[in-house]
Amino acid sequence: MTPSFASKYGPWAIVAGASEGLGAAFAAALAARGVHLLLLARRPEVLQSVAERLRASSGIEVRTEACDLARPDLPAALEALTAGLDIGLGVYNAAFAPVGEFAARPLDDLIRVVDVNVRGPLVFARTLAPVLIARGSGGIVLMSSLAGLQGATRIAAYAASKSFNTILGEGLWRELRPHGVDVVVACAGGIRTPAYAAAASREAMGTLDADVIAEATLAALGRGPVVVPGAVNKLARFVLSRMLSRRAAIATFARSTKELL
Ligand SMILES: NC(=O)c1ccc[n+]([C@@H]2O[C@H](COP(=O)([O-])OP(=O)(O)OC[C@H]3O[C@@H](n4cnc5c(N)ncnc54)[C@H](OP(=O)(O)O)[C@@H]3O)[C@@H](O)[C@H]2O)c1
Repeated sequence: MTPSFASKYGPWAIVAGASEGLGAAFAAALAARGVHLLLLARRPEVLQSVAERLRASSGIEVRTEACDLARPDLPAALEALTAGLDIGLGVYNAAFAPVGEFAARPLDDLIRVVDVNVRGPLVFARTLAPVLIARGSGGIVLMSSLAGLQGATRIAAYAASKSFNTILGEGLWRELRPHGVDVVVACAGGIRTPAYAAAASREAMGTLDADVIAEATLAALGRGPVVVPGAVNKLARFVLSRMLSRRAAIATFARSTKELL
């Protein structure tokens, strides 16, 4: 018999970046599967209201912690937050995506991209992997993007950070699988979130609702290594990574990032 989602990936999951948009959609999808939640983000009140909604709708236990994932002591903080919880799944959703000419961006912003989008998921995965290996079951979800398939103008550091997540997740998918631990990377196109609405002058073709991405990603656990939600995005990935030269892929992607605000 196939084990239920909660028996394989529960009883607890941690979602890093869970106060709105896709992170909140992951939390809701996990709550609906009967998994208790530890939710992290920077804004405690917004996180609290997500938690209250989920407790009311699903009857699960929800803990919240205001936490900046760029904090220098993230390894110790994650160890402390997860201690005593039987965590079966970790979703690293948060990202920082400043838009604009690379040479004009404050260096601190670019370093923060690395802290939140590269160091964060690395520490997150390294904190959870030994725990999940010891239990012999569980999963890790990392968020990537079509932007990470090639260099991307005006979001060069963000695109590079998303590429890191894809490659990290692919390696971990293969390495952790023999231990019963499923890793999946979601390589998303546009997602309807407050962050995307603030950055895009108009929606990219193939843009999907956050709950669709969350459901497709959780459904891909155990299959992996990479899921690309949506037919338009699957086609875009095929064209960008398999059909076009690197130069042509960079030029094609640049047409969409020039419209970012
Ligand atoms: N939106 C898109 O079109 C799109 C496309 C492709 C891939 N993606 C990927 O999908 C993921 C979610 O996308 P999104 O940007 O639209 O965001 P989102 O999930 O709608 O919101 C980001 C969440 O992360 C939290 N967060 C951000 N920085 C944080 C930090 N330093 N420490 C702790 N929490 C933090 C935010 O809460 P607080 O502000 O309360 O901290 C918020 O809850 C990202 O990994 C992104 O790269 C998005």
